[in-house]
Amino acid sequence: MNLCGEFTSSNPEDTLSLGNNIASLLEAGDIVFLIGDLGSGKTLIARGIARGLGYDGPVTSPSFTLVKTYPGKHTIHHCDLYRLQPEDDLYELGLEDIIGENTLVIFEWGEDFPVISYIPRWEIRIKFAESADRRTIEWKKVE
Ligand SMILES: Nc1ncnc2c1ncn2[C@@H]1O[C@H](COP(=O)(O)OP(=O)(O)OP(=O)(O)O)[C@@H](O)[C@H]1O
Ligand SMILES: [Mg+2]
Repeated sequence: MNLCGEFTSSNPEDTLSLGNNIASLLEAGDIVFLIGDLGSGKTLIARGIARGLGYDGPVTSPSFTLVKTYPGKHTIHHCDLYRLQPEDDLYELGLEDIIGENTLVIFEWGEDFPVISYIPRWEIRIKFAESADRRTIEWKKVE
């Protein structure tokens, strides 16, 4: 798997397997931002990453809990900040407790939050393409 790239997904399964492949690039301590409009496939990428790290349980949008934690090769914290405002401090999240050298933290809707917007991270950017089930998905590391 290349450290950065672009992929065209034709269906949800493609997106899931891209997430699974991206998991091989990720190390404990990494932070991943999933960036894309509503329904673009952020949670599917998160599920693929979790599968790639050996977690087979449910991975859904954690809207009501803010953070879901999955066990696997690395402990994964999956955060969905959709319901928060960029000016909110992220105390509800216990940010200091979830970001750490032994964890992998995945954010949906994290890119507008000043406190986390400058941390080194992976960005996975999903865009709707011309037909309903197509997506272009870019991934890269931002230091
Ligand atoms: N190529 C594709 N890749 C990803 N999802 C697709 C694709 N084609 C269709 N879909 C559908 O788009 C939806 C993506 O849902 P998902 O929950 O992953 O999006 P999301 O970006 O997390 O949304 P939200 O912003 O609400 O959290 C699913 O219903 C999925 O079946
Ligand atoms: Mg989601």
